[in-house]
Parts: sequence; structure tokens; C-alpha cells
Amino acid sequence: MSQSPLPDHLSPEMRARFNAAKVDPAAFAQEQEALGTVWNFLGFAHQIPDKNDWFTARLGGRDIFVQRFEQGIAAFENRCAHRNYPLRVGERGNGPVLCGFHHWRYNHEGVALGIPHCPEMFGKTPREMDARLPAVEVAQVGGFLFGRFSSPEGGPDIKAWLGPAYPILAHISGWLSRPAGGLDCTVASHWRPVMEISLDDYHLVAVHPTTFGKAGYIPAEGVQYERFGAHSAFFRNGDAASLPTMVAECEAGTFLPQRYRIIQLFPKLIISFAHALNYLGEGYWYMIVQDILPDAHDKTRTRMRFFRIPHAPTTSGLRRSLRELAWISVDRLFRFFARRVHLEDNAACAALQKAARHDDTPPRLALHEQRISWFEQSLAQLLTSTPTKR
Ligand code: FES
Ligand SMILES: [Fe+2]
Repeated sequence: MSQSPLPDHLSPEMRARFNAAKVDPAAFAQEQEALGTVWNFLGFAHQIPDKNDWFTARLGGRDIFVQRFEQGIAAFENRCAHRNYPLRVGERGNGPVLCGFHHWRYNHEGVALGIPHCPEMFGKTPREMDARLPAVEVAQVGGFLFGRFSSPEGGPDIKAWLGPAYPILAHISGWLSRPAGGLDCTVASHWRPVMEISLDDYHLVAVHPTTFGKAGYIPAEGVQYERFGAHSAFFRNGDAASLPTMVAECEAGTFLPQRYRIIQLFPKLIISFAHALNYLGEGYWYMIVQDILPDAHDKTRTRMRFFRIPHAPTTSGLRRSLRELAWISVDRLFRFFARRVHLEDNAACAALQKAARHDDTPPRLALHEQRISWFEQSLAQLLTSTPTKR
């Protein structure tokens, strides 16, 4: 069956806005601010196992920190309410929220309750001052932490936002305790090409000739794309039952991947399930969790974490030992190929950025780029519905 390219669904004004965010720091800042109003992946709960553990992150173009308190996990903008001094410096640490500039101390709700010499200096008590850190709403799904800045309109709760991905994340969280390494990169590109290359099954032959593209173009037959909310998924050799089946298996706690699949959670979290190799008649599979961290209109960091997906349980002690031994070598091989593929993608994104212009023409998307069109529509909808505050 012949396919014509997918039409550009964006208005010329929105296409211009998309282009501007790639080349203009002010347009980029506006775009980021809008992104901060929807649920973004912030990190894993296992990064902060103990009380007062914290890590820093970016949300909507702002620096935030996520901390475990006795009362639970909370997140705040990383700027002191006194004079905007950064409360947290570095990627992670442990300690109460105590500003390094004048020693204001904050509680789990981000209220400055310890203000040195408060009545003398300010003529009131800390309670009366009511100085607060801008709070980030936090939601936890299994081991995944999400956050957003509240907007006056509110917005869906995390369960409604993720839809079918909610039970999937809850189930696959069980594998977060099986780390197999990771890869952090910086790409000289706007963040969108980095997201969009993950939504593109058409570039494999040209960009990944020794791995994904080795066998040629993916036949249209058996490619199952799903769109749910602002998100999407691809099931290799799938059909209309692939997503509902995965959800049902995750709810039952039985899901193990048998075929490649990838889930893109808007705006910038990518979770894929990839087969590394077969050994002694068993497949070795990995879950890859990739976060995209926009730093500037032309600079993005990527953070990938790999996790071993367990085999079905066995009663054979010998098999269990062989598996454990095999994983060590397979991990190494998997990291090698994952790195190669990722660097190839990053090089393509950097090339796109070099060519980016205010007046870029709309893309002509192929069937295997269907999800880019969906993603752009979701982003356009968000940008349209978010008034800019700056
Ligand atoms: S800036 Fe934080 S206490 Fe002064
Ligand atoms: Fe790729």
C-alpha cells in the first residue's frame, strides 16, 4: 500500500514558535516554562533512600531540588526565599534545608521556620514572616518520581496523566533494583530533536547501519503505534492488542517483554525494552530509561539508565548461577552497543541543530515518523494552553 507523507498539523504561527525555540534563547525559556506545568520525570526514589537525602533537577527551566523528609518526598525551587541563594549545590547530598548564605532553615513544607535573629532583624517571628520556597508538586509511581509546578488551571493527577502507562510504570519499577549501568551525554542540540529521534523508526538504516538498521527498513506490516493522552508507544511486530495486553500483564505482575517496544512519556521520558542476545536458550533483555534534560536552546543533556529484566523464575540453582554469570558479560556488551547507537543519534541531532533556522520548512513525515506528528501536536497544545508569565 502506498503512503503519502503525513500533513503538517501545526499552524504557521505554531511552526514558527517551534522553530524559534531552537534558535532563540528567549523562545526556548518560554517553551521550558510551559513544559514545567505538566508532569515531568524528576528521578528515581532510590536516589534518595534516607531521610534528608536530596538531589537537584531542572523543571520548566528552573533549578529545583527533591528531598526525602520524615513526612515524605517533597521538591522545591532551589532558591532561598531570603535573597535567592541556591540552597543546594551539586547533584546530590544529605542534610536539612539550611541556606549557606545567612542560615535560614526550612521545614518539609518549604517554610522558613529557623531565621537567625528574626525579631531583631525583621521585627516579626518566622511564622509571621511566612517566607516559603516555591513548591513543586511531586507524585510517585513505583520508583519513578514526577513533578510539576502548579498552574492556576490545576491539571490531571498523575494517574490520569499517564493513563495506561501508570500500571506499566508501577510494574517495571520492580526492575529498578537491577541496575546495569548508564550513560550521560551532552548533545549540541535543542531537546526536541533528541526526543524526536526516539520517535523516528525511519532513520535506522542511515544512522545505525551496524545495529538497528542492519536488517534494512522496518516493514510497515507489524508496526503498531499507539497514542494515549500526550504520550505514545511503538510495538515491534505488534497489533491493536499489544498495549492493552501489556497493561493487563503489568497489572497482574506478569509482564516480561518478548519483542522490542518503546514508550515515550510526554514531554521527555523514554522507556524502551530491548533484547541483547540469547544465551543457553534464553533471551537477555534490558529496560532503558532515558531522560532528556534541556539546558539551552542548543544544548541538551541525556541521561540513560539500564536495568536487567529478570528471567522467569526457575527452580534450578545451576541455571540461576549461569544466568548471574552471563549477565555480567551481557551487561558489558549491551552498554557498548547502547552507547554506539546513542552517540549516532546524538551526532544526527547536533547536525540538525547546526542547520536549524527561524524559517525552517515543516517536516514531511513518513509513516514511520507518525509519533513525531503526535508529539508535536501535544507540544503545540501545551504551548497554546499555557500563558507565559515572564
Ligand atoms: S539568602 Fe538564604 S539565608 Fe540569606
Ligand atoms: Fe536512533
